[in-house]
Amino acid sequence: MADVPKANDPCWCGSGKKFKRCHKNASTAIRPGRVSPLRPVPDTIAKPTWADGGTVERWDEPRVKSPDIIERMRRTGREAADTLAALGQLIQPGITTEEIDAACHQMAIERNSYPSPLEYPGMVDPFPKSVCSSVNEVICHGIPDDRPLVDGDIINLDVTLFKEGVHGDTNATFFVGDVDELSQRLVRVTRESLERGIEAARPGRPLNEIGRAIQEHAEAAGFGVVRDFVGHGIGQQFHTDLQICHYYHPRQTDIIEPGMTFTIEPMITAGSWKVRLWDDGWTAVTADGSRTAQFEHTLVITDDGADILTTPSDTSIHPYWSLAATPA
Ligand code: MF3
Ligand code: CO
Ligand code: CO
Repeated sequence: MADVPKANDPCWCGSGKKFKRCHKNASTAIRPGRVSPLRPVPDTIAKPTWADGGTVERWDEPRVKSPDIIERMRRTGREAADTLAALGQLIQPGITTEEIDAACHQMAIERNSYPSPLEYPGMVDPFPKSVCSSVNEVICHGIPDDRPLVDGDIINLDVTLFKEGVHGDTNATFFVGDVDELSQRLVRVTRESLERGIEAARPGRPLNEIGRAIQEHAEAAGFGVVRDFVGHGIGQQFHTDLQICHYYHPRQTDIIEPGMTFTIEPMITAGSWKVRLWDDGWTAVTADGSRTAQFEHTLVITDDGADILTTPSDTSIHPYWSLAATPA
């Protein structure tokens, strides 16, 4: 569903009610909460340039990384994945996203890592927290605040750590208590869409095969693919100029090469893929209030496919590996 429903159209949620009588101005919509003060990072931890009020420095980083950089990214990627899995275990009704952020901040420091989102410059203000927490209709870049999670919510946590001079970027969507069937299907199809994208990431193929695979899978399930946010090259920089669309982009024909590192991070919606940005300059929500899910990995291209650099030590507690496939 590309377009936002008109007031008298049926709601995206399948209730059969008119949009205006259902989710148009739902009282359950996520609203801006209270954001606590900035948490410091000790000076013993190596920081990216934007820490402590700095700016993002961009330079022409090679798309194909050296074996040394790849090994550093594998180690940092694992730290990020282990942090994400540990945060997932805290999720239950009643915990606030602020408390999840405090745990992420603490875990990053214990791992001698800088939480990359912290103070990352944006269109209005720098990102004020150490993890992005995106609940229900929030697509991405949600700011942790004092809202307690509610039974039935879905929440994406996006963890990026900086250690050994490189970034590891990964996210997953988690269930809070008992979640409705549509949301369960949305989360499973989103996870599968990332898997399809990873399968399409092979040397010698054009980059746009990744988006083609993701879009086919998500749209076959009746879901939308967000256009406004893309995967990205990553390494010594958090985001390089390389962009990975999650939909088929005819002009994105650069050939995938062994040693390239980038993220794939599809955002899939139950309704329209159109985005609305809050005044905070960060929080991106679906224009129709439909729920949305995301999974992300940092990858390195090998001689015959792609390796996931953000693989946790224990896959059994991570939803990317432990979520059951959608029943046929
Ligand atoms: N981790 C996000 C990504 O996947 C970027 C977050 S930028 C932040 O690219 F500043 F919001 F943290
Ligand atoms: Co990313
Ligand atoms: Co991310």
